[in-house]
Amino acid sequence: MSTFTTALPGGTWTLGDLTVTRFGYGAMQLAGPGVMGPPADRDGALGVLREAVDLGITHIDTSDAYGPRVTNELIREALHPYPGSLHVVTKVGAHRDEQGGWPPARRPEELRRAVRDNLDTLGVEALDLVNLRLGNANGPQAEPLAEAFETLVELQGQGLVRHLGVSNATAEQVAEARAIAPIVCVQNMYNLAHRHDDELIDTLADGGIAYVPFFPLGGFSPLQSSALSAVAARSSATPMSVALAWLLQRSPNILLIPGTSSAAHLRENVVGAGLRLSDDDLVELDKIGG
Ligand SMILES: NC(=O)c1ccc[n+]([C@@H]2O[C@H](COP(=O)([O-])OP(=O)(O)OC[C@H]3O[C@@H](n4cnc5c(N)ncnc54)[C@H](OP(=O)(O)O)[C@@H]3O)[C@@H](O)[C@H]2O)c1
Repeated sequence: MSTFTTALPGGTWTLGDLTVTRFGYGAMQLAGPGVMGPPADRDGALGVLREAVDLGITHIDTSDAYGPRVTNELIREALHPYPGSLHVVTKVGAHRDEQGGWPPARRPEELRRAVRDNLDTLGVEALDLVNLRLGNANGPQAEPLAEAFETLVELQGQGLVRHLGVSNATAEQVAEARAIAPIVCVQNMYNLAHRHDDELIDTLADGGIAYVPFFPLGGFSPLQSSALSAVAARSSATPMSVALAWLLQRSPNILLIPGTSSAAHLRENVVGAGLRLSDDDLVELDKIGG
């Protein structure tokens, strides 16, 4: 039997010395179509960010590439000066071209500039956590990361960055980064239907490192599956709720950053993620990624 809980679900996790709620918020959807330009409803976007903080969320995921600059500027306008409990996590390693593409920008000078840009647009003296975004839109690619990651370690040494992570990374790249410097999270694509990182999640959990799935709801193509619909129907819940609740139950090191441009969806997701899935539900949902 599945039941709902009402508090912010999942409790907290510690990223280095930063305590965050496991239920976080991904800000990418706040920019305009194709993650380019300003939102159609600027006040609505500011309202979503304030709602996130009012709900008790202390982890917001962003990037200066969203818009570009748009999402960071909205975060600053809505929330600066930031509450001490709030941690804004950003990423560097790709920029935007005129067609809205995400070409890599991982040369040392590009990374130094990206960190400076994030500091400026967010209006802070140090970034809480910076993920080095690897690979491309097709996913992680086998490529060396040492030069790029060492550049971020250098910026961390200068006090501009508190903690480091990697994103869109293979298990080998995660190991390579960890051999250079401590990381506190890995942000990769993962959801009920895309479970390539199952082994990596367990390895990271053993090392006390967070795993932060992007596209937890399927991203630009919402998750659809008959098993998901069946579990949702018998739990009187939405498929989104089941997808988020499943992630929270999958492993304690999983942090949620579902994206939405709607305050109503945000509230719905907070409640929905508190769904307690039964063992039977989990067995049925396991078939989706199998
Ligand atoms: N590291 C990387 O390379 C990378 C890549 C992509 C994303 N990210 C991060 O991951 C975060 C999450 O990814 P995402 O936002 O792309 O995808 P997502 O969280 O899987 O899904 C977002 C989509 O779900 C919809 N949605 C959310 N709640 C809903 C609800 N209750 N009912 C109906 N629809 C709902 C949103 O539409 P509405 O706006 O209408 O609610 C939006 O279209 C991003 O915000 C970003 O911070 C990182």
